[in-house]
Amino acid sequence: MPTQDQLKQQAAQAAIEHVLPLLRPEDVLGVGTGSTVDLFIDRLAAHRGDFRAAVSSSERSTRRLRAAGIEVLDLNEVPAMAWYVDGADEIDGALNMIKGGGGALTREKIVASVADRFVCIVDESKLVDCLGRFPLPIEIIPLAREAVARALRQLGGQPVLREGFVTDNGGHILDVAGLTLDEPAQFEAVINNIPGVVCCGLFAISGADVALIAGREGVRTLRRAW
Ligand code: A5P
Repeated sequence: MPTQDQLKQQAAQAAIEHVLPLLRPEDVLGVGTGSTVDLFIDRLAAHRGDFRAAVSSSERSTRRLRAAGIEVLDLNEVPAMAWYVDGADEIDGALNMIKGGGGALTREKIVASVADRFVCIVDESKLVDCLGRFPLPIEIIPLAREAVARALRQLGGQPVLREGFVTDNGGHILDVAGLTLDEPAQFEAVINNIPGVVCCGLFAISGADVALIAGREGVRTLRRAW
């Protein structure tokens, strides 16, 4: 039986096989954050001559990309990118996701929004029928912490401050358990409207386009139905 780490490696390798043949030498690749993406970056090093550069969603991934010899561009220099590759904390069959377990959700959502296609790489433990078992990360402006927490309690959530954690943007994270997320896109819009929220870790208004899900029986590909 493969370990979770071996499954993450399979998902990372599947992303290389899915995306690299479609990348042109002038293309910029969007790169997410997390342990699965770390494995993707490690494999990307061998292909660094096949595309122009990367845009990164975190300081962590930027360091790893540069160590692999891959140029990292500022998103402001990049008007378009074909592909964005990232992990997720949970994903459902419609390719809605919860992200932000590593705290990089805001930059992830911004970089993903510039890309034409989001490829999500996960091991099968992340695939769920309904999102919400994983507490929903929400990045907030620090002075709005209690105001946002009250609003989230009114929505049925139990917000907990991620103690001692500061995002790459200087924000704080509330991890919110107890939410009913059966209408994730609607819920994301509600959270986005709370003053003091920088970014909601639901990626449902715009989810993944392709999911590469590594399991005991190999890597399954799910595509978003439009
Ligand atoms: C980072 O903030 C997250 O959105 C990650 O994409 C997510 O936590 C998945 O990470 P792992 O690949 O480490 O499980």
